[in-house]
Amino acid sequence: MQNRMMITGAGSGLGREIALRWACEGWRLALSDVGEEGLKQTLAMVREAGGSGFIQRCDVRDYSQLVALAQACETQFGGIDVIVNNAGVASGGFFAELSLEDWDWQIAINLMGVVKGCKAFLPLLEQSKGRIINIASMAALMQGPAMSNYNVAKAGVVALSESLLVELRQLDIGVHVVCPSFFQTNLLDSFRGPTPAMKAQVGKLLESSPISAADIAEYIWQQVARGQFMILPHEQGRLAWHLKQHDPQALYDEMASMAEKMRAKARPGQS
Ligand SMILES: NC(=O)c1ccc[n+]([C@@H]2O[C@H](COP(=O)([O-])OP(=O)(O)OC[C@H]3O[C@@H](n4cnc5c(N)ncnc54)[C@H](O)[C@@H]3O)[C@@H](O)[C@H]2O)c1
Repeated sequence: MQNRMMITGAGSGLGREIALRWACEGWRLALSDVGEEGLKQTLAMVREAGGSGFIQRCDVRDYSQLVALAQACETQFGGIDVIVNNAGVASGGFFAELSLEDWDWQIAINLMGVVKGCKAFLPLLEQSKGRIINIASMAALMQGPAMSNYNVAKAGVVALSESLLVELRQLDIGVHVVCPSFFQTNLLDSFRGPTPAMKAQVGKLLESSPISAADIAEYIWQQVARGQFMILPHEQGRLAWHLKQHDPQALYDEMASMAEKMRAKARPGQS
């Protein structure tokens, strides 16, 4: 019976809600994050929901911390069945204004954090014939304006997941990638970008979501049970992805006009 899950970024937002959804089914959870306060709260909520587990501080930029987390899963649970590479940060800004440090920071957490998570846990997943759930974003598929470093990091997560899907099938390891549109969490707290106006615009997009992090966790639960590889929780996202596959130019035109509007808002008086 498979019932052991590891989640990165479990101290807040979607990571916490995924923990709670699986806790409802009685799973044992290895909860990790850079923030320990949030982790303690998540563990208390997990216990109330019917799950159990442990917390361990882990910065996904540091491979040795992920290896130590895998070792803790082996010691405490005897292995792991599902890993969720969820930890992530927000960024924004037009390409011309983003610094190379902005790029390094974004790629180190949102892309390399996932690469390192998969690599550190692969030996345990081989033993259990487990599953990987990577949290990407609709940004991976749509390349919205003024977030090129985030788009590239998340597109990398999708490409990594597709690569693992085909490579790991022979080992009976399942792979899923989740691409949500914006939804309300604490993601804005981690925002890094050259202009404060951009942060405010991202904040409005997060608030505009018709569905919550809990709804998304529920959708992930259902789609993973169905064996769905690419999981798109927002209806608008599914429609946009369909449009892009059939008429990519229409999508690029739409994104270009959105970029113009954003530039005008970010730089009042200069448009
Ligand atoms: N909220 C959205 O609109 C949205 C949309 C699409 C995808 N996502 C993705 O969902 C995932 C979860 O984000 P969220 O919206 O729940 O945000 P959140 O900020 O509420 O949660 C993210 C968690 O990741 C942790 N974290 C940040 N850097 C870390 C690091 N280096 N190592 C370990 N943990 C770290 C944070 O402490 C936080 O607890 C992210 O990968 C994000 O990119 C979010």
